[in-house]
Amino acid sequence: LSADFSAQLDLMTDRITEHLDLALPKLDEVPARLHEAMRYSVLNGGKRVRPLLVYATGLCLAVAQEKLDAIAVAIELMHAFSLVHDDLPAMDDDDLRRGMPTVHRQFDEATAILAADALQPLAFRVIAESPHLSDREKVAVVRLVAIACGSQGMTGGQSIDLASEGKTLSARELRTMHSLKTGALLGVCVMSVCELVPGLPAEQRDAMRLFADAIGLAFQIRDDILDIEGETSVIGKSAGADERMGKATWPALFGIDAAREMCQDLLATGLNALSPFGEQAVALQSLARYIVERPK
Ligand code: IPE
Ligand code: IPE
Ligand code: MG
Ligand code: MG
Ligand code: MG
Repeated sequence: LSADFSAQLDLMTDRITEHLDLALPKLDEVPARLHEAMRYSVLNGGKRVRPLLVYATGLCLAVAQEKLDAIAVAIELMHAFSLVHDDLPAMDDDDLRRGMPTVHRQFDEATAILAADALQPLAFRVIAESPHLSDREKVAVVRLVAIACGSQGMTGGQSIDLASEGKTLSARELRTMHSLKTGALLGVCVMSVCELVPGLPAEQRDAMRLFADAIGLAFQIRDDILDIEGETSVIGKSAGADERMGKATWPALFGIDAAREMCQDLLATGLNALSPFGEQAVALQSLARYIVERPK
């Protein structure tokens, strides 16, 4: 990462954290414990890759930054909700997230379920209430987020993930699972910004789609590699958890070298897809590299 890009990332990360803080209910509002759990799940760290993708896509397509805040917040809230549920005993049964106890460990299981339940509608509320988006834009974005998180998106992918524990999947099946559970929401970060550009040429939209699909898949493969090679103290999650749960992952099924190669191939595909945008795409390019090379 160039020093310049790192500084830009820090600025954008601060911006999103500020907006998340504003969108979340305050601690002294009733029911306080639920609100505490919601804030804990969202504000305790996190790389904010999805909001960063929103802003980087905005830079690429010359969309005003204030139009992006609500979208970035909504998607990050959806992401946080998915993590809280993902960690529950009924799912991945994890104790550690972002270097801290998972929400059901810090609070209790019912509070974790409810906090996630409340984050999801809050995401839609944030979009609906944005003063910077037109009604048409709001409906378009709500629709994309809903599709990405539903049974044919993230939730469906999570369902396949659980059903695949201890099983051998084909590359095609694994790809489908990854695209749904992780790629779909990452894809919305890019595609929802396209909705804010009236008259975006079809080739440019297709290029963005191609980029998002490649990067979404690479993101999950990198996550699976880090689960094996990362250290708990760095990744902030219990290393080796996938193997213990018998998760179907790229490195588990095809080996760590193949997983690494796949990441590089997807990065090349993603970067290539961005070529029509030239210099405008530098932030997206840097983010794509970060996604496949990130240490956590
Ligand atoms: C983890 O996502 C869950 C996956 C989809 C692999 P992130 O790696 O983006 O988690 P945070 O938000 O940075 O903690
Ligand atoms: C989670 O995948 C994908 C989600 C939709 C939350 P993982 O189960 O691998 O995510 P981590 O490793 O727990 O963050
Ligand atoms: Mg999981
Ligand atoms: Mg998990
Ligand atoms: Mg993982």
